[in-house]
Amino acid sequence: MNTPIIVNESTDKKAKPSADQLGFGKYFTDHMFIMDYDSGLGWHDPRIVPYQPIVLDPAAKVFHYGQTVFEGMKAFVASDGRILLFRPEKNLRRLNFSNHRMSIPQLDEEVALEAIRQLVLLERDWIPAEPGTSLYVRPFVIATQPALGVAPSEQYRFIVILSPVGAYYAEGINPVSIYVEPEFVRAVAGGVGNAKTAGNYAAGLIAQQEASRQGYSQVLWLDGVHRTYIEEVGSMNVFFKVGDTVLTPELNGSILDGVTRDSVIRLLKHWGIAVEQRRISIAELVEAQRNGSLTEAFGTGTAAVISPIGELYWQGEKFSVNEGRTGDLSAKIYDALTGIQRGTEPDPFGWMLEL
Ligand code: COI
Repeated sequence: MNTPIIVNESTDKKAKPSADQLGFGKYFTDHMFIMDYDSGLGWHDPRIVPYQPIVLDPAAKVFHYGQTVFEGMKAFVASDGRILLFRPEKNLRRLNFSNHRMSIPQLDEEVALEAIRQLVLLERDWIPAEPGTSLYVRPFVIATQPALGVAPSEQYRFIVILSPVGAYYAEGINPVSIYVEPEFVRAVAGGVGNAKTAGNYAAGLIAQQEASRQGYSQVLWLDGVHRTYIEEVGSMNVFFKVGDTVLTPELNGSILDGVTRDSVIRLLKHWGIAVEQRRISIAELVEAQRNGSLTEAFGTGTAAVISPIGELYWQGEKFSVNEGRTGDLSAKIYDALTGIQRGTEPDPFGWMLEL
């Protein structure tokens, strides 16, 4: 697909929100990218158009069988004016991994990156500059063929929208309290837990609702077979500092291969801190909390970056972590990652792509 991207500029520009209005995913920029797929033709007609509703046939397969994938990445404006994207290649590789799992045709990752580059540059005035803000890039693919037979769609649409964002959780970098989910599971090995597909998030809502009802911000997911081993927290990967070692669940097929997860592991190793990726049981964590060796816990994700955990609720008991305060290591990782992302700290791993 070597077709140039056609740009149809909007004449109707929206008012931009102030940094304190942002929240997460509430505002969208003036333009979006669209590209279509038809079997036989492949991906075609890449174009940037004014942000607008899309018209779909009610029989489009995405509505009935959930054939869809998405990604999330962030763009930043550095103090010297450079526009930087955080590890977009890794997100686009994962988009194609998810496409494969959901029987969606592969995208040309270079074309997708060029589309994001052109779209973000066109919308550069929308990138907020205040600490804790960024321009969230949401690429996604939907199955658009109007047909009710359960079979891969013969038509798709790849869309990229942009949203200026602040903190994902109201708590920001302050610790959240977590409900260890005893009944529902997020995903199982062999299923779609390691693909970024809508159903994983819809399936988690019921437990999230119950956790909120009981006064907890997020759910800690246990594995689907034994209900014993830690998987993820909310929509993030999860880490625990036990003694001098940082533990995180290994990628077992039902856990998302998070870009922030990978970045945190690489940062920790760079600092000479031991990291173990392995099975971690809830019993091991409870024991570590009781004997005082569990000193920090935090979630990692593109949206929240780092979300410290201040308390765990499991089987009728509350277990506090670091007396409910943000740990030194969590704060150090947050500062390092956001410093690299905003271009205020050196980027030893070459993670930032200048657009
Ligand atoms: C991310 O951290 O980017 C996520 O996956 C959360 C998203 C579903 C809002």
